[in-house]
Amino acid sequence: MTVLNPYKILLNGDYSTLIVVLSAATFFRSMCSIIGYNGKNSAAPLIVDSLKRMEYRGYDSVGVATFDSGNILVRKGIGKVAEVNKNLNLGQMSGNIGIGHTRWATHGGVTDKNAHPHSACKKDIAVVHNGIIENYKELKEELMSAGHTFVSETDSEVIAHILEIHYNKGIKEAMIETCKRLRGNYAFVAVFQDGAIGGARYEEPLVVGVTNDGYFVSSDVLGFLEYTDKAIFLENGDICVVDNSKLEIFDSQGRPIAHPITQVAWELGDIDKGKYAHHTLKEINEQQLTVIHAGRQDEAVMNKFCDVLVNAKDIYITGSGTSHHSALIFKHMLARFGKIRAETVVSSESKYALASMDSNSVLIAISQSGETADVLDSVRLARDQGAKILSIVNVTTSSLARTSDACLSTNCGPEIGVAATKSFTSQLALIYNITDRICKNCLATEKAEFVIAVENVISNSASSIRAAAQIKDASDVYLLGRSLHYPIALEGALKMKELAYVHAEGIAAGELKHGPLALMEKNTVVIILNPHDATFNDTISNAHEIKARGATVIGISDRKEDIYDYWIEIPHLKEEAYYPIVEVIPLQILAYQMALAKNVDPDYPRNLAKSVTVR
Ligand code: F6R
Repeated sequence: MTVLNPYKILLNGDYSTLIVVLSAATFFRSMCSIIGYNGKNSAAPLIVDSLKRMEYRGYDSVGVATFDSGNILVRKGIGKVAEVNKNLNLGQMSGNIGIGHTRWATHGGVTDKNAHPHSACKKDIAVVHNGIIENYKELKEELMSAGHTFVSETDSEVIAHILEIHYNKGIKEAMIETCKRLRGNYAFVAVFQDGAIGGARYEEPLVVGVTNDGYFVSSDVLGFLEYTDKAIFLENGDICVVDNSKLEIFDSQGRPIAHPITQVAWELGDIDKGKYAHHTLKEINEQQLTVIHAGRQDEAVMNKFCDVLVNAKDIYITGSGTSHHSALIFKHMLARFGKIRAETVVSSESKYALASMDSNSVLIAISQSGETADVLDSVRLARDQGAKILSIVNVTTSSLARTSDACLSTNCGPEIGVAATKSFTSQLALIYNITDRICKNCLATEKAEFVIAVENVISNSASSIRAAAQIKDASDVYLLGRSLHYPIALEGALKMKELAYVHAEGIAAGELKHGPLALMEKNTVVIILNPHDATFNDTISNAHEIKARGATVIGISDRKEDIYDYWIEIPHLKEEAYYPIVEVIPLQILAYQMALAKNVDPDYPRNLAKSVTVR
């Protein structure tokens, strides 16, 4: 097998971001990584490598199953890949065929038994699954009354038992019959006792990696990019079987499907941390380049995007989490510089808000991964009403990119750190480019200055690091900003929650007097986004009101003020609209440093993983 140099590879894929939403009881939203290999090489070492690369998708337990000499061997346990591999020697399991999984708990706690792969009663099948089987309770009851014994509390185990029932009809039929019974969203890969693997997807990503001597079936191209840049992206409802080194893809009726092989085409530096302690730190540092890369767009697509946008009767902009904060900035930029009115809708709310679209409407969907379920739901809703879909996406092979009328890429390479950093500033840089195009170069003259300013804030991180040391034990942090700085206050608060586990709240500075002022007291920490622009005077008054109540004030500004207990300096910009892209970086550094000070791994925050492909 050829091992591609990860430093030189062209790649694409799903580098999406997951927020695990905790709801009542033990029902977690999930995102796991799954991988299967069937080829001429020893499967287990390849699978363990893949799991390490995809660990950002979920990391509470790990397991591998291989097929060797008519037997299926399963080893699994709780912990991260390196740890479980060390304890159980996963990489030394024999056989050229196998599957692997990193789990993010959904149904059932984090235990060895609940770790994947799951087998059925006869141990002739093992399955790894990502997603949620909504009807698992009724399936489980049905299977148990038919004599099946369950060993885990997971929803996923039902897949193995249903496959087992139909296995005597052949693998293809077993896969089809099993998919027919499942409701919810899933991608699963199964290894069968006669040495084949089968995969299926519905509303969860699954991609086949094609090498000269075998196939991978993976949730993410990262699972195989070290070995091949040839990928087949399976569509919803597709099923595949790799048997005797032959790949077959078919639909739910068994009809063959031919998908093109895509040469993954996303040029990236590297997916290793390199000299950095964490992916998050690396990605923060990469921003001096990625904000430039965001400007490299295909002329024709950019023209189409802008044409559709300016000719729309009504415009909605949607996204989740960080990408929603970009949407807020986009709305502001369009209104201010393009004189275009748009509405923003946080994607998880779209089913209540996107009700009056038609063929003259446009939905602009913003997403790093292009796989976020809430975002895809918004798109479906808009599409059903006849609206056009424009998107801003980092992963250009994602479902969102593929379904859009015009898709612009943020071009920032894979983002592995769970918290969005470089993808956010790339989204902003691209949004500024689009706005500039629409307002006929009203922003272009000062374009170079924000790039230099980004470089400057990254290399002068000392004041953010000092401030982090001072506020690391704060239990509540408030971030204040007006106008374009308000979405940055929201984004800064999100980074602090995710990375530093601190309660943080972004507040529109003018709202202080309408309530939050009651919270200001001696132990409160308030970060003020306060560049010397049109918002400065009003925001500095807020700083005085806060200080008078004894709170600690951290000012992020190009101008030093005595009122600040700590001043994080940012460069002065002639075009004040560019401040958001610059001022968010100290907040990313602050949150990262607070995580370190609290001994928290910033790449793998608790309860979170990369990509929210479930609702
Ligand atoms: C925040 C974060 C999440 C994502 C959100 C949307 O740091 O990572 O809030 O921004 O889950 O993800 P995408 O942009 O992939 O749709």
